[in-house]
Amino acid sequence: MVKYMIEGGSPLSGRVSISGAKNAAVAMLPATLLVNGVCRIENVPDISDVRLLLEILSDMGASIRRLSRNTLELDCSRVRNATAPIDLVRRIRASYYLIGAELGRFGHACVAMPGGCNFGVRPIDQHIKGFEALGAQVEQSGGYVVADAPEGGLMGGHVYLDIVSVGATMNILLASVLANGTTVIENCAKEPHIVDLANFLNAMGAKISGAGTDIIKVRGVRELRGGAYSIIPDQIEAGTYMAAAAAVGGSVLIEGVIPKHLDCITAKLREMGARVTEYDDAIRVESVRRLRRANVKTMPYPGFPTDMQPQIAVCMALAEGTSLVTEGIYDNRFRYTGELNRMGACIQVESKTAVIDGVRELHGCEVRACDLRAGAAMVIAALAAGGTTIIEDAHYIERGYEDIIGKLAGLGAHIRRVETYEVATADVAG
Ligand code: EPU
Repeated sequence: MVKYMIEGGSPLSGRVSISGAKNAAVAMLPATLLVNGVCRIENVPDISDVRLLLEILSDMGASIRRLSRNTLELDCSRVRNATAPIDLVRRIRASYYLIGAELGRFGHACVAMPGGCNFGVRPIDQHIKGFEALGAQVEQSGGYVVADAPEGGLMGGHVYLDIVSVGATMNILLASVLANGTTVIENCAKEPHIVDLANFLNAMGAKISGAGTDIIKVRGVRELRGGAYSIIPDQIEAGTYMAAAAAVGGSVLIEGVIPKHLDCITAKLREMGARVTEYDDAIRVESVRRLRRANVKTMPYPGFPTDMQPQIAVCMALAEGTSLVTEGIYDNRFRYTGELNRMGACIQVESKTAVIDGVRELHGCEVRACDLRAGAAMVIAALAAGGTTIIEDAHYIERGYEDIIGKLAGLGAHIRRVETYEVATADVAG
């Protein structure tokens, strides 16, 4: 059990360095299964989702060398279509990328249905539609997804996604890079991590064009060779520190970012009254007075990211006036609002919209991190609040934020991590 104890109320000041993008890394690591050679990947974030995927790949026979905290060498050439261990796979949503990667490499995949943060139903029908367009037969039974390529291997195909899906776009990319012929994916997602995965695969010898637009074309190649690649900075980690500076107050220089990826967050914080200055690869956020109300609706990139929804909601909870947050991606991503209300926020959820009446201050108390980004929002709220906040289930936060304690302490925050070894009642009951 991991808890964070936070003494709030002091402004943040200083500089913080952003790590590699989680949602690029969790696709790139399974992608190494497609490569016949050594992949050297730099700027890999040291987070628990990445550690879990490395454990899965290592269990499947990958050879992995850690050259430094954030640089890894992976060689999957000796992996022999092992089924990934179910207990690990179910703990991470991104394990669905093993389906595309195994199917592409071996023509067969058998992967337990993925787990991950619970925001309501999270189907993978669009991933399956893509695999089927490449000629695969896919079945879901007994909690597993089993996919098989036809005799002669996967064939390039045409897929029009019914929903703009990050996971489906990346998974179809993985399955198609070694297929025979050309694949076209239409209405695909355009997030920076999609471009990053395509760039990684191209660096290994794939022929992908159009990543970052809504039509991607993949010309199948016979083999991917090894090579070196460096992951882009994490847009959401950067956005989280931007929101923290705006909500808590102070002046924070967020370094090692691509400002273009943060445009919609920058625009929203400026609209709310924070001062945001862009440099080539850094952004400074300064906030000296109370923020103003604003509305936001989450959308696929380049719209406002759903993964920043809870963090911006904390800014709004403390802003002057009534703000509206509309969730456009998931059915159920407002569970954290109850926790914020325990700290004195005034938020009412009506279907897909949270109505936030800004309050002057929040007060510390015991709250829960309901999921990764909800946990990040609780950290921001706790830093802004008067008194002490204890955040339970903080292990969720560590799925996606490298060294959040060290980075915030470097900005002057009073934050402490406490790990206890309590036996959960459910485990005892079996
Ligand atoms: N959807 C379907 N069918 C599909 C796929 C998606 O109906 O086959 C729906 C989803 O239920 C959702 C919407 O389409 O309503 C978009 O889902 P998407 O597939 O884009 O999300 P994802 O691939 O499951 C990734 C990130 C999430 C992030 C979303 C949206 C990973 C491992 N996860 O999820 O990241 O919220 O894209 O940007 O890349 C996080 O980092 O905190 C996180 C949850």
